[in-house]
Amino acid sequence: MNTGRDVEHAAHCIREGKLVAFPTETVYGLGADALNPQAVAHIFELKERPSFDPLIVHIAHLDQMSTLVAEADPRVFRIAEKFWPGPLTIVMPKGPLVPDIVTAGLPTVGIRMPDNTIALELIQVSGRPIAAPSANKFGRISPTTAAHVKKQLPDVDYILDGGKTTVGIESTIIRLTPAGFQILRNGVITREDLETVLPFDESPVVSDIAAPGMLKSHYSPRKKLLIADEATLATDRSRAGLISFTGEHDAGFAKVIRVSRTHDLKEYAVNVFEAMHTFEDDDTIEVILAEPVPDSGIGKAIMDRLRKAEFSWRAQQDARA
Ligand code: TXA
Ligand code: MG
Repeated sequence: MNTGRDVEHAAHCIREGKLVAFPTETVYGLGADALNPQAVAHIFELKERPSFDPLIVHIAHLDQMSTLVAEADPRVFRIAEKFWPGPLTIVMPKGPLVPDIVTAGLPTVGIRMPDNTIALELIQVSGRPIAAPSANKFGRISPTTAAHVKKQLPDVDYILDGGKTTVGIESTIIRLTPAGFQILRNGVITREDLETVLPFDESPVVSDIAAPGMLKSHYSPRKKLLIADEATLATDRSRAGLISFTGEHDAGFAKVIRVSRTHDLKEYAVNVFEAMHTFEDDDTIEVILAEPVPDSGIGKAIMDRLRKAEFSWRAQQDARA
């Protein structure tokens, strides 16, 4: 048994250079001591993650930033005060102690303080900043339960089980520019939330990496997933599962998962990856349709996940048409 609730044991594993999957408020992370390059290399191996894709470093105290970043922009503390602990990653110039493998050779490092007691305890007890991507195989569906982790990464040294995560999609990622902030990945902390602290920099984001924040295909189930539209809703529903938000199109589907009873986008975010896992594991389902939502606020983050999840399936479908 490599799953349990033993934070002391998990912290011991981290200090020994082993890998621990742990809950955060967003998704489960696959963690290693961020200052141990061999341990971090194992994350890339186990996840089958390309080395160009940098990891986020998780901290439990603001003090830990001094070992990780070169210079702390005072604006970072204003943002941190409002949004940490929470689902927000801030990309900052990296300090010399951070191994290059963590940042994929970039001069910057993404840092966040997760809003999850078990994660914070793990960081505290291990006494290390913890580098962690989402605990899934590269390109696949992110995990929101310990069982999801076990399905994709059975060989991880230890899985800390903290139940289902409470936010459900990955953190918003920002970087600071002279004009304000840019969003590198949308999440439940929205542009509008951040604008209460800093101005949004309208200039286009030029990425220095080709990483999932930026890749077109990601979060992808092993069976066909398409965003529901007029054409897909008109096809045979007898072996199709619907990820339903409004309830308006539920009739005739083999199975329906209602992600929210109250039209709440936060609930869609909490349940979207779990719904994908459920249908992926269900042999009676051949096709997954996911109901779209308006592309604003938290809806932007949900649509980003759905578009990336459908990307390669949509391309295959269009190629056949
Ligand atoms: O909510 C989350 O952020 C979760 C939990 C575990 O904390 N983690 C997560 O990590 O989603 P991951 O590896 O699946 O996504 C990390 C992404 C990278 O793919 C990249 O897009 C961005 O964070 N990133 C990390 N460091 C960066 C950097 N220095 N510059 C630009 N982007 C960076
Ligand atoms: Mg990920």
